[in-house]
Amino acid sequence: MGEQHPEHGKRHESRGIAGMLGECPPALHDRGLPLAQELVAGGELRLPSTPATELAARLPLLTANARLRALAAVRAHARESITLGDAHWREIHCEVTAVDDAGEGGALVRVRVVVSGIATRSLGGDALAGTAAALTGIAQEFPWSVIDDLRILAIDIEGRARALHCEALPDDVAARLPAQRAALARTRCAVITLSDRAANGVYEDKSGALLARIVSDAGGSLVHQLVLPDDGERLAIEVEVLSRRGDIDVLVCTGGTGIGPRDITPETLLRLGIRPIPGIGELLRAHSANVVRSAWLSRSVAGTLGTMIVIALPGSQKAVAECMEVLLPLLPHTLSMLHGGAHG
Ligand code: MTE
Repeated sequence: MGEQHPEHGKRHESRGIAGMLGECPPALHDRGLPLAQELVAGGELRLPSTPATELAARLPLLTANARLRALAAVRAHARESITLGDAHWREIHCEVTAVDDAGEGGALVRVRVVVSGIATRSLGGDALAGTAAALTGIAQEFPWSVIDDLRILAIDIEGRARALHCEALPDDVAARLPAQRAALARTRCAVITLSDRAANGVYEDKSGALLARIVSDAGGSLVHQLVLPDDGERLAIEVEVLSRRGDIDVLVCTGGTGIGPRDITPETLLRLGIRPIPGIGELLRAHSANVVRSAWLSRSVAGTLGTMIVIALPGSQKAVAECMEVLLPLLPHTLSMLHGGAHG
């Protein structure tokens, strides 16, 4: 404890629990109904110039203390305000790990708190309160440490799961997740936006950016992203190059599926020889038509090209969100079948 460090005195930073609660689905807050939930929160403690090996011996005691603090903080959080609503916890689990911080030459202590139970409010605050308490408890032992990245990692409400930061989930939690939560885990993805105006800088490529976020929220890694004008030849070249790379599992295109004179995405992909999966296009249209009738105007196609699945979505952000919602749960099995897996 007495040891001084150059970063001593630096204030422990966290983004604040109240702000983080905004990440929970809004539907939760006003319903007033008890909902079965599992919330995973996480945070890090950076220890510059402290090798992970040095921490290893102290880890069992640090973990035991962190667990007690997390438990007490979750209970205190619930007592804090009578307006919060009832909560009945099934499990409050706190995990502490120490890893080398390769970038900084020091160590990182990671804390994950899982809170599951039934509540009329979000259990997100409970999980964050537990994580913050565990982190500050450990930080007291290392005055030069910096608390970082306190956030909700995954939310499961009534079996509808969503990973916000899949990459930060501990393996045992990731393994318990339903398939869609990590639908693109270990999946390498590419995104191409087809839009004359986005390519010419008339407007921002918001649909491509949204796709990139959806891919990473679903645990996928985005290995390539670009914006092209609605130009069949350029699209054909790019898709061909991507399929030859052999390291891309899913290519999602957005835009150019309509019936305008410049809409060329579906015919370009078909001309390239994708092995069509007609059901995916039909599924997207049928699902989307429940939301907007003009969904029937999209000529969305999907197929395989070598070991890559190629999917052409309509161009609007709204369409991207609606289509990915229905696509994600289907992709793990599709990928497994493409790579010779058995029927699930
Ligand atoms: N699909 C969904 N899910 N949501 C939408 O808003 N828009 C439609 C349709 N598919 C839409 C949708 C519209 S208005 C058009 S013109 C076609 O997609 C084609 O869009 P694109 O030319 O941008 O590919």
